[in-house]
Parts: sequence; structure tokens; C-alpha cells
Amino acid sequence: MAMEIRGTGKAVPVRRVSNDDLAGKIDTSDEWIRSHTGIGARHIAGEGTACSDLALEAAREALAMTAGWEGGDRENRDLAAAEAAKSLDLIVLATAGPDVYGCPSTACLVQDRLGARQAAAMDITAGCTGFVYGRETAAGLLLAGKTRKRALVIGSELLSKLTNWDDRGTCVLFGDGAGAVVLEKTGAPSEGPGRRGLVGSVLGADGSGADHLVIRRGGTRNPFKAGETVGIPPHIEMNGQAVYNFAVKAFADTCRRLLAEDGIGVDDVALIVPHQANARIVQAAAKRLGIPEEKFFLNIGEYANTSAASIPIALDELNRAGRLKQGDLVMTVAFGGGLPFGGNLIVW
Ligand code: ACO
Repeated sequence: MAMEIRGTGKAVPVRRVSNDDLAGKIDTSDEWIRSHTGIGARHIAGEGTACSDLALEAAREALAMTAGWEGGDRENRDLAAAEAAKSLDLIVLATAGPDVYGCPSTACLVQDRLGARQAAAMDITAGCTGFVYGRETAAGLLLAGKTRKRALVIGSELLSKLTNWDDRGTCVLFGDGAGAVVLEKTGAPSEGPGRRGLVGSVLGADGSGADHLVIRRGGTRNPFKAGETVGIPPHIEMNGQAVYNFAVKAFADTCRRLLAEDGIGVDDVALIVPHQANARIVQAAAKRLGIPEEKFFLNIGEYANTSAASIPIALDELNRAGRLKQGDLVMTVAFGGGLPFGGNLIVW
């Protein structure tokens, strides 16, 4: 039995904020941001947009592709997506910034808006590794349920709403966006010749580094108190150097394990799609691994770090550009706040 990707989709806010736009507001420069991160711009959602709005849009794109919709007007796309949504058994949504904390899950909101009446729905919290964890969770649940066949896995983030815009050390790094894939359990083999879909996986975490990337306010440890006023909303606090060191090691270790456990060499991999946190992290890990940088796909220049959305956004871009051919072996790798890490091998 194989877990194959049937469709991909993405949604990115229209508003594009360049490094120069930011430099007009805080003490930074295009030169600093590019040279330290590889970021050139980010897309920022409007005030009225929430996690489920971007998630819904990415989901519709992925579902419409699954239904064979080939472009045209939006109404037809939504009809194709609504029809495909009826066949979903599961929705897993990874995010660090749900519509509301606690409940309902954002996945339930998306399930309702899609009309996916048969689908179970749940959120995953695993920082920027959320999509890798989400895809593994979905694959496991499809495998465990005899009648379950199709899952929608979404990464959707509006980190602009969790960012302290006065902290130049973090606010230049993040952007908003969502990506989605439709995962289907098929009769194809997942091992041996002709294998398809998800064929390898590494998941792990180092909770001892939890303090290095954290949102401290608003949870049960540090809830808001009656009558309290706060100047800025709960936001990401980050020890950049510590996260950088963790990320390079976790990245390289995950790639090594994926290759070793599958008994393959890097030449067998067509493309590595990393979480887009910082181009320098990718370059440092590539050097450690002795893998040429051209093997890694980077679109951080346009979208910055969109956390759990970065890998599915990248997959959708590659897929729609025809850069993923049937039979290609693709490796995804991620790390994030928590500090979880992980990756997948996928035969496209
Ligand atoms: N513009 C201009 N100068 C800046 C900026 C900025 N936006 N931010 C920091 N600086 C300054 C600092 O104040 C410091 O100045 P000083 O020397 O006068 O004190 C100088 O630049 C160097 O600062 P460092 O923090 O040491 O810069 P570093 O080279 O470590 O780069 C960075 C910072 C880019 C954040 C790096 O540490 C990093 O990439 N860390 C990992 C971050 C990451 O990947 N986070 C997300 C992972 S998990 C997830 O995706 C949610």
C-alpha cells in the first residue's frame, strides 16, 4: 500500500513587503537581511484574515487539482474542490497560529467550510516541522483505518500576527502563507521496484531547547489576567544563534538518517525541499553533508519563513512548474520551535 500525493495547492497574501519597505520602518537594511538570511520579501495578510482563510484557499487549490481541474474561473475551481472534499476522510492542519487557541481546532473550521462532512479533523502543533509531522500523522491514520483513503494535510501560518514588529532580530524573518497536499492510500507498492508515495521518514525533538523559540503569553502557564492591558500581543521570542546551531545539526542529521535508513546515496535524490528558515542554514548543512547547494530548492527570497507552510508551498510551486517528475525521489527536511525536527522521502 502506498501513500501518494494526488494534489498540491498554496495560498499567499497579495500584499508583498520588501526588505526596503521594512527598512523604512525599523533599523535594518536590504543588505543585512539578504546577507544574513537570503530573504528578499515576505507576504503579509490583511487584518481580517485568519489561519483558516489561507488554509481554505490552499486546500481548494489542492483539491481542485486532485479533481482534474485545469484552471479557469474561481467558481468552477470551488465547485471541483467541493466535490473532491466529499471524498476526504481526514484533515490534518499544522499551525503555530490557529484562528483561536484551544478549541475549535482550525482543521474543524476548514472541514466545515469545505463541506468535507465525512472527514475527521485535527490540528498539529510542531512549529515549523508541523507539515512533516502532519503528513506522517495523516499517513499513519490512513493506514490504521480500513475504510480511510484520502487525507488533506495543510500547513497554514500567519506569523505576522505573532511577531513583535519592533524586534528587528525576528520580524524580518517571517511571512504568511499556506500550503496543502491531498494524500491518498493506493494499491501501489511502497517498497521495492516501482515504489511510490511516502517511503521513508525521520521524526524527533529536543524539548530541552524549548526556551530558544517561544511564545510566552496566553497559555495556561502565563494566562492573561482580568483587567490587564498589554502593549503588544503574544509574540515569538527567539535566541537566533541557539536556533541556528540546532537547525544546522538537526538538518544534516535528518538528511543522513533518511539516506542511511533507505540505503541510498544523495545522487538517488532528485531534489531536497527544506523548511525555508534561513538560506544560510541550508548552505551550512549542505557543506556539512558535502551535498551541492543546487540539490536544495529555495524560495525563501520571495516568501521568507512561513513556518509549517514553507514545505507545502515549495512542493506546490515545484509541482505546478513541472519540476517534479513521476518517479523522482524528493526529500523534505524541517526543524522548528519546540524544538522538533524531521523529514520524509517521497517518490513523486
Ligand atoms: N537588521 C540589521 N541588523 C540586525 C538585524 C536586522 N534585522 N537583526 C539583528 N541585527 C544586528 C544585531 O543587533 C547585531 O548587532 P551588534 O553586533 O551591533 O550587536 C548583529 O546584527 C548580529 O546579530 P546576530 O543575532 O548575532 O546575527 P546572526 O548573524 O546570528 O543572524 C539570525 C541572526 C539571522 C536570526 C540567525 O541567528 C538565524 O538565522 N538564526 C536562526 C533563526 C531561525 O532559523 N529561526 C527560525 C527557525 S524555527 C522556525 O522556522 C520558526
